[in-house]
Amino acid sequence: MSTSSSSPQRRKVTTRTLLDKKQRGEVITMLTAYDYPTALAVDQAGIDSILVGDSLGMVVLGYENTLPVTMADMLHHCRAVARGAKYALLVGDLPFMSYQVSAEQAMRNAGRFLQEAGMDAVKLEGGRERLDAIRAIVAAGIPVQGHLGLTPQSVHQLGGFRSQGRTATAARRLLEDALMLQDARCFSIVIESVPTRLAALVSQRLEIPTIGIGAGAGCDGQVLVTHDLLGLFDRFTPRFVKKYADLHGEIARALDTYQTEVRTGTFPRPEHTVDMPDEEWEAFLENVEGIG
Ligand code: KIV
Repeated sequence: MSTSSSSPQRRKVTTRTLLDKKQRGEVITMLTAYDYPTALAVDQAGIDSILVGDSLGMVVLGYENTLPVTMADMLHHCRAVARGAKYALLVGDLPFMSYQVSAEQAMRNAGRFLQEAGMDAVKLEGGRERLDAIRAIVAAGIPVQGHLGLTPQSVHQLGGFRSQGRTATAARRLLEDALMLQDARCFSIVIESVPTRLAALVSQRLEIPTIGIGAGAGCDGQVLVTHDLLGLFDRFTPRFVKKYADLHGEIARALDTYQTEVRTGTFPRPEHTVDMPDEEWEAFLENVEGIG
């Protein structure tokens, strides 16, 4: 079945759709977007869910990590994405320190993503230590996606962007956290950079869908940062990223050609310019004499 935007059967994806997909054994697709054109392209491609991730701090705003990203940054980008995507389930990422202080703060900030920025759900990082916040947000009627494993907002506590769950103790803790998030009524959990067999086991144990990034094919769905997938950078990308395009190279080539054509007078050509009727030009020239 075609998944393009022209498909007449296409319906808005909801949290229920993702659960149904898991139950039917259909893989869920998710990608990030931070602006209108990318949201439009991802939505038209038929991707199930768009994450407006705080990764935008790194891939769009040029920060070293996601910690400087603010609520204002997130809401601004969420609004642009909401204008571009009609069908995908839209998930907004709660930024660092927007949900850690208290459950009430978490609920208020989560509410802003739906009320002011057109999101359908929010995502937040962490396990058992976030249960109060998750329960409060869910109690307000807002769907929450959890995020376990490599949680980038804890980069300093983790000692860098490192894989997680690689010891028996850490693996057990991750499974326990996943079950707790499910009990707290998260609709789904992102699992980042953990061993494939651990992510697969967690996915089998949970009724809610898992979305993996660097967690292997045993998850119920996959997510990637679209800028990484499109090769928009020539800098380091994690080993779990597959580059499906080299847009950085394409952009460099286009900019080089533009520069050469402007310098050599090949651009602009008449077809890129605006003309005016000859009689108007003649009238203009007759009157221009006395000016200046
Ligand atoms: O911020 C983000 O883009 C994310 C994904 C990497 C899951 O959290």
